[in-house]
Amino acid sequence: MHLALPPAQLLSLADKHGLPLFVYDGGTITRQIESLRSALDVPALEIHYACKALNTIGIVKHIHNHGCGIDTVSPGEIVIALQAGVPASEISFTPSGVLTEEYAFAISKGVHVHVDQFHVLDWLDIHYPGLEITLRFNPAIQAGGHSKLQVGSDGSKFGIMSHQVDAIKEKTRSLSLRITGVHMHLGSDIGDSGSFDQAYEYLLTIARQWADTIQRIDLGGGFKIPYHPQDHSIDMPAFGHKISQRFRRFCEEIGRPLTMVVEPGKYLVSAAGYLLMEVSAIRDGGSIPMAFVSSGFNHFLRPMNYGAYHHLINLSNPEGDVHHYDIVGYLCETDNFASNRPIHEIRRGDILCLMNAGAYGYTMASNYNTRPRPAEVLIADDGRTQLIRRAESFADIMQTDLGYVADGLSSPVDPKAG
Ligand code: LLP
Repeated sequence: MHLALPPAQLLSLADKHGLPLFVYDGGTITRQIESLRSALDVPALEIHYACKALNTIGIVKHIHNHGCGIDTVSPGEIVIALQAGVPASEISFTPSGVLTEEYAFAISKGVHVHVDQFHVLDWLDIHYPGLEITLRFNPAIQAGGHSKLQVGSDGSKFGIMSHQVDAIKEKTRSLSLRITGVHMHLGSDIGDSGSFDQAYEYLLTIARQWADTIQRIDLGGGFKIPYHPQDHSIDMPAFGHKISQRFRRFCEEIGRPLTMVVEPGKYLVSAAGYLLMEVSAIRDGGSIPMAFVSSGFNHFLRPMNYGAYHHLINLSNPEGDVHHYDIVGYLCETDNFASNRPIHEIRRGDILCLMNAGAYGYTMASNYNTRPRPAEVLIADDGRTQLIRRAESFADIMQTDLGYVADGLSSPVDPKAG
């Protein structure tokens, strides 16, 4: 597990922008896009970055500049993609169980929508007759790095279930909507290409049912990247070769070239991100020393939410002796980044770097314990450093709190404080 950026550069960014700080290496994102593109050899390919992983406008722009479209799940993400300059024709909308108003918003912007519920089809047919849509299916296969990430399994809330396929076929026959795409997303953190094979085969079987109108087959995302030094990544060249061959055969069978769509999130941005945090305290006296950092699961949730391993490096004491530490955050509840972790000696004031902080870091951050969220810096392909988001202030957090107004008293909260 290595840093793509020199430690001295990370330390100087920490010095300049303050801590905690997210730093993203654009070069790593670019290489990941290229590795995916060169592995997928099909008549037409669209990479739709699942921007829920990291949707700061500077990042979305960077990814779009490298030829990717954007997959979104909310009106907010659609607005971000549009503001980043992505044309509506390159944005897809794959929500889950949302109000029909959200579909109306997406359609009003010209964004292609993915649908997996019967009532939405009826509603779309009434309001947007003839609309081209994609249907999302559930392949009923259990795969993913954690039970919470296995969203293509039977009984998950996503996609049209296998026993509903005939009914949906029947229904779409009676509607004016045009089914131009089929979609699935198996889950996240999947390294075993066998599960993908099985799921994609299932989707192709389904696609045959709409062979006359289908233009695109969207395979979702979920491609594994290594989190642990001993972990592996999906073997992208071998995996890509296999699925491309299968896809081309399918196009021959249908008699026309179709577009393959993939929706990676983690694969593009995870390894590009670093979260830099300052050590605020060391507590000795327990079975092993405990290092406190001035951050917590409010800034990075994955270890607490999924028990995820994230590699940590002591940037400011790389030559120190290695000891074992519990590394904990500053929130007022259990807040562990790592337990019993070997790392170069940690002293108060040291700067730790948490790796793989690009995906589902900032986008899952919160203001818990009334803590502002950090700034974000992007290092572009040419090495230029750009602050793409400033740190929040206390005033930002308090902006929506109108205070308690009683007896004509105005707000007791001064949002400008801090
Ligand atoms: N497409 C759809 C429809 C999705 O729901 C997702 C992720 C993706 C693509 C991208 O999946 P990826 O390539 O990033 O694995 N917060 C979790 C991950 C949740 C993924 C949700 N859906 C985590 O931190 O691991």
